[in-house]
Amino acid sequence: MSVSIKIQHAVKKFGENTVIPDLSLTVREGEFFTLLGSSGCGKTTLLRMIAGFNTIEGGDFYFNDTRINDMPPHKRKIGMVFQNYAIFPHMSTFENVAFGLREHHVREPELSRRVNEILDTVQISELRDRMPRNMSGGQQQRIALARAIVIEPDVLLMDEPLSNLDAKLRVEMRTAIKRIQNACKITTIYVTHDQEEALAISDRIAIMRKGVIQQVGTPIEVYQHPVNLFVATFIGQSTLMDGEVVYRNGHAFVRLFDGTLLSMPGLQEGLPEQEPLILCIRPNEMQFAVEGLHAQVVERVFFGDTIRYTLRLHNGQMLEMKQDIHMPIRQIGEDVGVQLHADVINAFRKTDETSVMKKAVMA
Ligand SMILES: Nc1ncnc2c1ncn2[C@@H]1O[C@H](COP(=O)(O)OP(=O)(O)OP(=O)(O)O)[C@@H](O)[C@H]1O
Ligand SMILES: [Mg+2]
Repeated sequence: MSVSIKIQHAVKKFGENTVIPDLSLTVREGEFFTLLGSSGCGKTTLLRMIAGFNTIEGGDFYFNDTRINDMPPHKRKIGMVFQNYAIFPHMSTFENVAFGLREHHVREPELSRRVNEILDTVQISELRDRMPRNMSGGQQQRIALARAIVIEPDVLLMDEPLSNLDAKLRVEMRTAIKRIQNACKITTIYVTHDQEEALAISDRIAIMRKGVIQQVGTPIEVYQHPVNLFVATFIGQSTLMDGEVVYRNGHAFVRLFDGTLLSMPGLQEGLPEQEPLILCIRPNEMQFAVEGLHAQVVERVFFGDTIRYTLRLHNGQMLEMKQDIHMPIRQIGEDVGVQLHADVINAFRKTDETSVMKKAVMA
């Protein structure tokens, strides 16, 4: 059975040090939910509170309507997968996966049936009798995953499970994890500091900073409509540019450093004249044009399907741009015009870095 997870006003302290001041969160039944944030922001700490390995200094944790604060870890029906696999080196694949079932007093023939079924699901049936030391990192991680889900947990917790794998295997394994989670629909909390991984794998993402959740949303929501500058710069790569609000004939524009007036249809109504803003411009949110900002190409990197340009604007600022390979290719040193896609660019108040866009609402 899968459960919903509700956390209300969680507090975590290590001695005098408050790592999580007041955190509330709901993960839906069967959801693939990701905690995303930089090192030290409290992701593992929160996961360990859910698992029962950390004390809880405040707040309430629920699985469905059951408060679990005082429930011992082994009663919480949790499967866990860690970065360092934590599989037994002296046991075969089969025995590693069977271990948890034996603990739960599952006997033959059901034991073999369930182990074989899970090995099939994670696609390592052919490694059934092999010892882990003779396997690749990805194969070992599949064993760890199989071992976590074979006990049919209510909740699956994964803490950076792919960070020890090389880039190509990481992409393969995240697709596999997503597929397996989709098939068994276990409520999953996945921890990563890799934003691309989070976007690719999650139903919803919570972006954390210093123990505080900044935004919760689908990958598309947090990418397109970040609530503050932290989220905007954490997700995706971007160039920041100053601007200010000006009104012409009752219509709001954003004025850039060179006097360019940008008409941004997504801006909130009623922003004060001269409000200082920071624009967060992604590499794909602009195009070369005859009109627009004047710039010079200073760097060009080929990425296969795209080319990434570094452009220097007249005020000396650098602008990162990405363009489809099929577009005309620009030369280093070339003078170019750049038109910003004002309908998709996000803007934030310079004062408190919150979004001034209509659609960026905290979920
Ligand atoms: N047992 C502990 N005792 C004291 N402080 C701790 C303990 N565990 C974690 N911390 C502190 O709590 C904060 C959050 O740590 P945590 O391990 O949750 O971060 P994280 O987001 O998982 O980071 P990473 O991406 O590096 O794994 C850090 O400042 C860390 O030093
Ligand atoms: Mg961690």
